[in-house]
This record gives sequence, structure tokens and C-alpha cells, in this order.
Amino acid sequence: MSVVQEAIETKKLGGELSASTIEAVVLGYTRGEIPDYQMAALLMAIRLVGMSYDETLALTSVMANSGPRYSFPDCVDKHSTGGVGDKVTLTALPLVAACGAPVAKLSGRGLGITGGTIDKLESIPGWTADLSEERFRAQVERIGLVVGGAGELAPADKVIYALRDTTGTVDSLALIGSSIVSKKAATGSGHLLYDVKAGSGAFMKTPAAARELAELLVRLSASLGIKASALVTDMDAALGSAIGNALEVRESVAFLRGEPVPADLAEVATDVAVRLLELHGVSDPAGSVRRALDSGAGYEKFAEFVAAQGGDVDALVDLPVSSSVRVVSAPAGGFVGAFDALGVAQGALELGAGRQTKEDTLDLGAGVELLVRVGDEVSAGDPVARLYGTRSVDRATALVLGALTIGPDPVTPTPHVLDRL
Ligand code: URA
Repeated sequence: MSVVQEAIETKKLGGELSASTIEAVVLGYTRGEIPDYQMAALLMAIRLVGMSYDETLALTSVMANSGPRYSFPDCVDKHSTGGVGDKVTLTALPLVAACGAPVAKLSGRGLGITGGTIDKLESIPGWTADLSEERFRAQVERIGLVVGGAGELAPADKVIYALRDTTGTVDSLALIGSSIVSKKAATGSGHLLYDVKAGSGAFMKTPAAARELAELLVRLSASLGIKASALVTDMDAALGSAIGNALEVRESVAFLRGEPVPADLAEVATDVAVRLLELHGVSDPAGSVRRALDSGAGYEKFAEFVAAQGGDVDALVDLPVSSSVRVVSAPAGGFVGAFDALGVAQGALELGAGRQTKEDTLDLGAGVELLVRVGDEVSAGDPVARLYGTRSVDRATALVLGALTIGPDPVTPTPHVLDRL
């Protein structure tokens, strides 16, 4: 029997895989020596039976070591498990960098309902994530904030994730945890904050499931020498009011420039920044973040970072979005009970703000702007959202309206930060 056949038999019967078996299978699959059907059988057995903590840690280590590894022990980083309108990287990280904690971040493009940070930043004319390792390192040293493309990090995770995505094996706590932490360990930042989203627009649908994942991420990180903590934040509703690449950069710039933004965005961005400064050992983290906002130092850091990566800073104050705008109106009067993140994201996807397949081209100026929030009172005919873009506008309108629940009774909005670890 081959090593992968033995692993399938062991896991099928509820046994535990040794670290050496996990290494042989993962590296064998990454080199193309193990066929998809055997790896898929093993992943399904893992999905159904689960993995012990030791197995999960072994899988995380071997995937982290399967490609290049960076080392930025003094740097901080954050990871979001993916949300709708999630612009915490664009808002919290400039604040953190402005407060003296350097940030070295490797990011990806979006697929499905959650947008990628690189797609968002590419809506700034000239901005690029295509940096050599030398330039990436030099920018950390010089301005303390860099965002590059994740490229070849953790290649084993890349091929295994692609297989999981098509074989019904994504939704496994051990596989999700090892996948996320392997990439973070390969990036090499010494301090890490996980923002685990819970709700309709997130992987984890309940706060309890999100907490379980958060605990695993923090534990795996600690085992690999990374100082980590986590927040569980709400994703039943989109974060802030903007969903779409240029729209989200505009809202982030507004926050950093001290202009009014929805309270949930301000709260989560500030909370993440404070937690990162705590992890880094900065004294008075809350006061530091407040001063970076009040003085404009957070915005100045963002502008410095944009310029360093070729972006047009002058464009930031009025970043272009699609000039084709449709206003969606409330079908009835009452109180907004929900503006479901998943439905709104599907509307934005139809408009071209996201990719349904890797080959899709984005409309960076497309998306949805929410004009009401949970708890607001509206009259029939009041504007509730603006849709930007020219693709599938009727379908997007139906999806956004379908996401809106209006009822006769007043509604108390839920907190935005649901749990802290
Ligand atoms: N995000 C990842 O990076 N990996 C998973 O398995 C799920 C979400």
C-alpha cells in the first residue's frame, strides 16, 4: 500500500496520522505524485472524522514550509476570514503603522462574495502589489507599511485548497485553520490579529462556530511562535456602507480623514488597530490610535504607502466610481430589521465588483452603497441603496431588495464586535 492509501485507511477508521505521514502526503501531492482522487478521498475522510490538534499543527507546518518563508518578527499583520465590505486592512493598518508598529502584509485577490485587498487597492490609479522581495523589505524599513501579492507562499495550501473547493471539503475546522495559519506563518509577521467573521456573509455562520475557529487560529499561531489574538465580528450585515473596490477605498479614505462613516466600520477598524498595538507592546494603544486619527497621521501613512507602491495620491480624495447609478427605494415603510450581507454581496457581484470565476474581469468602479442600516426607520419610497455599474443591474436590484427586511416594530442593532480572545 502507498503512503496515501495507508493514510486514507487510517483516517477512515478514525485513527491519527503521524507527522511524517502528513508530510509525505502533502509534499507528494504538491509535487504532482499523488493523484487528485486519492487526495480527495483523504480530505473527505478528514472532513468527516476530523483531526487532532497535533495532526492539524503538523499539517499547518508542512504547508507553511512548502514554499518560500519570509521573516518579519517585529511586524504586525491581521487576517480576516472574509467578509462583505470588509475594509479593515485599509483602515486599521495605516493607523497601526502610524503608531510605530510596522506592517508587512501579503494579500490576495477576491473570489466569490468577498473582495480581495489587492483588487480594492488596484482601484487607485497606478498602485501595484507587484513588488520584488527586495522592494517589499525596503518599504517595511522605510515607511513601515507594505502590501504585496501572496504569490508563491505556501504552495501546498494553494493546490489542496483548489481541490477542497471542488470536492465539498472546505468546511472542515482543521482544514480551514491549517490553511489560514500556514499562509500567515509563511509571511512571517511576529504579531497577528485574526478577525473571524460570523454571519450570513461569512464562512462561519454563528458566533459559536467563529469562536471555535478563532481559538484554533490563535493556538496554532502560538505553537508556531506567533503572538496572536482574535476578534469575532458580525457579518450578518456588510461592514460600513460601501461594497465594491473603489467604493471601499473611498470609504476607508473618508474614515482616515476623519469624515463620518458608519459606526460599525469605525468600531471594528479601531478595535483591530488597538489590539494589534497591544500585541506589539505599544503603551496606551487606544490613545495612540485616537491621536493617529485626530492628527491625520493615519491618513498621511496611507498616502505615503500608496505613493510608495506607484499610486496616485491626488486621486485618493475623489476616487472615480462608475457614473452609472441606480437608486433602490424602500418598498414599504417601517424599521429595517436586516440588510443581509450575503444578498447585498451577490448584488455587488452581479454588478462586476467581484469574480464568480478566476477568469472574470472586475469593474473596479462598480458596487453597492447602502443608505440605511439595521434599526433605521424608513418610509415607502425612501432611497435605501445606490447601485454603481452597468452589468446585470436589474438582477442586482432584485438581490439587494431581497436582502432588505422591513417590519413594523423598532429593532435594536446587535453589537459589531461579538467576542474577543
Ligand atoms: N480561507 C483560507 O485561507 N483557507 C480556508 O480553508 C478557508 C478560508
